[in-house]
Amino acid sequence: MSAVLQTAPTPRSYPAARSVAVAHGDGIGPEIMDAVLHVLAEAGAPLRLLPVTLGERAYRAGERAGIAPAAWEVIAEHGVLLKAPLTTPQGGGYKSVNVTLRKTLGLFANVRPCVAYAPHVVSAHPGMDVVIVRENEEDTYGGIEHRQTDEVVQCLKLVSRPGCERIVRHAFDYALRNGRRKVTCMTKDNIMKLTDGLFRRVFEEVAADYPQIQSEHRIIDIGAARLATRPRDFDVVVTLNLYGDILSDIAAELAGSIGMAASANIGLHGAMFEAVHGSAPDIAGRDVANPSGLLQAAVMLLVHLGLPEEAARIHNAWLCTLEDGVHTADIAGHGTRRQVGTRAFAQAVAQRLGRRPQQLPAVAYARADAPAPTAAAAATAPVPAARKTCHGLDVFLHWDAPGRDPEALAARLQPLAGEAFRLAVITNRGVKVWPQGRPETFRTDHWRCRFLHRDGDASPQALAALLARIADAGLDWIKNEQLYAFDGQPGFSAAQGE
Ligand code: NAI
Repeated sequence: MSAVLQTAPTPRSYPAARSVAVAHGDGIGPEIMDAVLHVLAEAGAPLRLLPVTLGERAYRAGERAGIAPAAWEVIAEHGVLLKAPLTTPQGGGYKSVNVTLRKTLGLFANVRPCVAYAPHVVSAHPGMDVVIVRENEEDTYGGIEHRQTDEVVQCLKLVSRPGCERIVRHAFDYALRNGRRKVTCMTKDNIMKLTDGLFRRVFEEVAADYPQIQSEHRIIDIGAARLATRPRDFDVVVTLNLYGDILSDIAAELAGSIGMAASANIGLHGAMFEAVHGSAPDIAGRDVANPSGLLQAAVMLLVHLGLPEEAARIHNAWLCTLEDGVHTADIAGHGTRRQVGTRAFAQAVAQRLGRRPQQLPAVAYARADAPAPTAAAAATAPVPAARKTCHGLDVFLHWDAPGRDPEALAARLQPLAGEAFRLAVITNRGVKVWPQGRPETFRTDHWRCRFLHRDGDASPQALAALLARIADAGLDWIKNEQLYAFDGQPGFSAAQGE
């Protein structure tokens, strides 16, 4: 790949005071946060903690987005947030505050180590040690959704070349810094040839800059299955936002418990550290939750802030606690000698500060382990402007005439194509229904009608005139997509049967 150019701004340098915004979160959040803060205090970590209110509590206080402006100010000023899980309403209500935080603060990399601690903690895969690096800002998580017809809703999946490049580079840099041997990319580029295809292409380009690290690509479905059955085949996995979200929960659970995994959300201007799991309302307020995920997040935070000794002291004390069989309910098994609640677990970790584990490998961190990207590492090569030509238009219609007969729709549309265009194909949910559709194909009220320009270079005026003719004919166009080619390469997927 071409030399990396300095297009990203200089990253923030953290003040000596090491101020950290702290959100106690929802559900089990306050219990596990108190447990973690107890360990941090006992370890003498030099942190100035600045409480902020996010999530349900902010929402109940009248903040419609779940974040008060005062909280934004603290987080933006100090750039580091230790966050307990937040509840996100399902199927309605306010947007995910987690997603808003990640996107607004530009936390493009979500790093999730999934490690087994067998035989002390029962694991489906003793010896598992995989790091999932999840793209954190793009994909379907833009939450750009529309209802377009009576029957059909859509969600936009947006993927950018710079977005792919930064996350893939971050994964390789992480592998290099942490002595990892291989980075596996997982996509579904056999189906989503443009979006996932771009991610894979960028992965292959960036991989060429890291010849010392092995690289491979797997289709996400078989890749996920193999990760679940043979995690030892994997080391660092880099993938798109949605796949990474799902994969990291599975990997965390396979390693031992979802309650044990941590997540570092890293950007140039800040970082947010949290557990992988959610607010677990089913066990909230009962002092049974495992605070380990958030404690591991705090360890990553300490490393990030340049406090490697404190990080290692806490991490090793935690390993001793697991080894000694002091376990919360979620990880109780044959290695358990004393089952404890959230508070007692934190006390047990604090009591072991200064000790090193005897059987599990002790950790040591160096300042270089800090996951903060440098501006140079996060910079992306500029994407040269291509010569863009418009080959036509996909017009999406809400059409529900009796029988939903594609021949009848085509008969109405063909005369509207005019001199400049021709109706090439009609699909319904991506399946070709005209010409030569099959009667068995299920049809909704949502039709994609592809008009190709006869000269392959439609002007905006010609496109607007086509849409006007369709509207004047009383057809309900609910969306359109231009069919661009970039330097002659089609920038749109071929319609089936085209
Ligand atoms: P969840 O992760 O909260 O819980 C799933 C299961 O794991 C539950 O049975 C729960 O009891 C258990 N569990 C989770 N954490 C545990 C811990 N520390 N110790 C012991 N057991 C634990 O997932 P769920 O139920 O799907 O989501 C609950 C809420 O959390 C939702 O509103 C969701 O949107 C939110 N959420 C927030 C996240 C965040 O703040 N980063 C991440 C994931 C979900």
